[in-house]
Amino acid sequence: MGPAPLLRAESLTKIFRSGEEQVVVFEDVTFEIQPGELVAVVGESGAGKTTLLHMLAALDTPTAGEVYFNGQRVSEFDAGRRAKYRNRQIGFVWQMHYLLPEFSALENVMLPQLIGGQGFEASEARARQLLSEVGLAEAASRRAGELSGGEQQRVALARALANQPSLLLADEPTGSLDHRTASRVIDLLKQLHHSHGLTSIIATHSLELAQRADRTLRLAGGSLL
Ligand SMILES: Nc1ncnc2c1ncn2[C@@H]1O[C@H](COP(=O)(O)OP(=O)(O)O)[C@@H](O)[C@H]1O
Ligand SMILES: [Mg+2]
Repeated sequence: MGPAPLLRAESLTKIFRSGEEQVVVFEDVTFEIQPGELVAVVGESGAGKTTLLHMLAALDTPTAGEVYFNGQRVSEFDAGRRAKYRNRQIGFVWQMHYLLPEFSALENVMLPQLIGGQGFEASEARARQLLSEVGLAEAASRRAGELSGGEQQRVALARALANQPSLLLADEPTGSLDHRTASRVIDLLKQLHHSHGLTSIIATHSLELAQRADRTLRLAGGSLL
């Protein structure tokens, strides 16, 4: 046996049903992610990458199968424990950053900490530190909505790390950026992955991003290749 995985997906199946219709997104998908790995999940649009990330984050439940986090069965978590799992253990970055546009960059990075019960001063200090790590110390008080696409995605990365997660889940984090900006966000993501001791899973259809991962999981035709 290898080292204990941080995440294990066991025979995961997801089927969406609406009335008579059913969509089998994937069936019997099994994999393990070791602590410290940077894994790319690739596959064509509609292959089920986002759905898979939702299962791993306990944002949705599998039709069959199990997700284990540190050996614990995620489906057994009650609502409170699931919320805590997402807030404390996982940092998210989405294609559309979902920053609050009317709030400053600093406030956006403070918010998950305040929600998680951190004090105001500690939250602000950590937010400033993270903004400086993503090269945006000077932009702390600017409204998120005024920042460029690449800057917004860097704020989203800082926000994802606000509560010192062990797991970073990113869904097409460079999907709405031009090539050069995307490349810089990938550099930053890799750098933060290492400096924060993260385990990272990145859904992407970018070959450049996939090539820079430690390992690639490919979803196609409802299976993992
Ligand atoms: N809430 C939902 N209800 C019904 N079908 C869905 C839902 N979410 C996703 N799907 C379907 O599941 C499949 C996989 O979608 P998705 O996980 O978004 O793929 P990807 O992220 O790889 O593009 C698609 O066929 C999509 O239409
Ligand atoms: Mg998707």
